[in-house]
Amino acid sequence: MANLSAYLGFVLVICLVSPAISGPLKVGFYQKKCPSAEAIVRESVQKALAADPGAAAPLIRLHFHDCFVRGCDGSILLDSTKGNTAEKDSMGNLGIGGFEVIDDAKAKIEARCPNTVSCADIVAFAARDGVRATGGLRYDVPSGRRDGRVSLASEVIENLPGAFFDAAQLEANFAKKGLSLRDMVTLSGAHSVGDSHCSQFTKRLYSFNATCSQDPSLDPGYARLLKTECPRNGPADPTVPFDPVTPKVLDNAYYHNLKSDRGLLYSDQVLWDAPSTRGFVKDNANHPSAWARRFAAAMVHMGSVEVLTGARGEIRRSCRVVN
Ligand code: HEM
Ligand SMILES: *[C@@H]1O[C@H](CO)[C@@H](O)[C@H](O)[C@H]1NC(C)=O
Repeated sequence: MANLSAYLGFVLVICLVSPAISGPLKVGFYQKKCPSAEAIVRESVQKALAADPGAAAPLIRLHFHDCFVRGCDGSILLDSTKGNTAEKDSMGNLGIGGFEVIDDAKAKIEARCPNTVSCADIVAFAARDGVRATGGLRYDVPSGRRDGRVSLASEVIENLPGAFFDAAQLEANFAKKGLSLRDMVTLSGAHSVGDSHCSQFTKRLYSFNATCSQDPSLDPGYARLLKTECPRNGPADPTVPFDPVTPKVLDNAYYHNLKSDRGLLYSDQVLWDAPSTRGFVKDNANHPSAWARRFAAAMVHMGSVEVLTGARGEIRRSCRVVN
């Protein structure tokens, strides 16, 4: 009996504590050490959005690309040096942005509380603020990440999912980071904001495979539109919005687009076409608020991937260079 109640007590404590904790991270980590940290990040994001309403999407993607290569350790922010090509200069990070917003927040935070707030946490806060600004959904970000000292371009392609991955490859890629198939489908909803370079999908329009020049899973009308925006062999590599209807709103329109064969990337469309993920797409299309809740939870989950905490890593003074 004593054993049983000890056991129940143990379970109870775990259950009470778990909502605020994501692994070793903690909501409000800077409450005492730097109480204005999260507000400063929000101001920097809002300032960027006032100048460019498209500024949120890069911040959401930045957090994803940070977390999938060496964990959420700010490695994506480091600049290349004489002897080293950094992650941000890999082709796998084509179109990556948002660095100026992070720099702006970091400078203001350093002025207020030097050597205290990690760049990796600033990226996580900024992604959250980008989600709130475009999707209106709010969530708390557990923090306490520390910054890594290594950033290698050569690690990017092998860790990030590719735009021509099929459902099984996407599932395996996310599973390697501890994220479920459902998390993968839920997070892909981020592709309801922002845009993609034509080079990421023109193969679907002009040279799909030996038997079909155009991807048969692509709605023909949408393909026609994309061909006007992305001319064959054009010298430039223009960008087009993931969601032509509401490109600046983070919502479940993405899943409706997939159902009508209007997924921009091959890796988007397969989520509807593959039996393993189709049910999640349907569910997210039919239940927008359930998707939004899951999206927030999945962002927090993604934000805990392979984090450095405690005495590991460092608090960088400048997000672009190691101390
Ligand atoms: C599931 C596998 C995924 C693949 C294959 C993928 C691939 C891509 C590609 C190719 C682009 C276009 C980049 C460009 O040409 O500029 C892009 C953009 C973007 N991705 Fe993903 N992505 C995936 C998942 C995610 C996740 C999990 C998130 C965040 C939670 C995300 C957020 C974004 C955002 C917001 C953009 C637009 C960025 C901008 O407008 O600057 N993606 N993604
Ligand atoms: C080309 O793609 C279509 C549609 O996915 C498929 O049915 C066909 O078998 C493919 N052809 C080749 C040669 O791979």
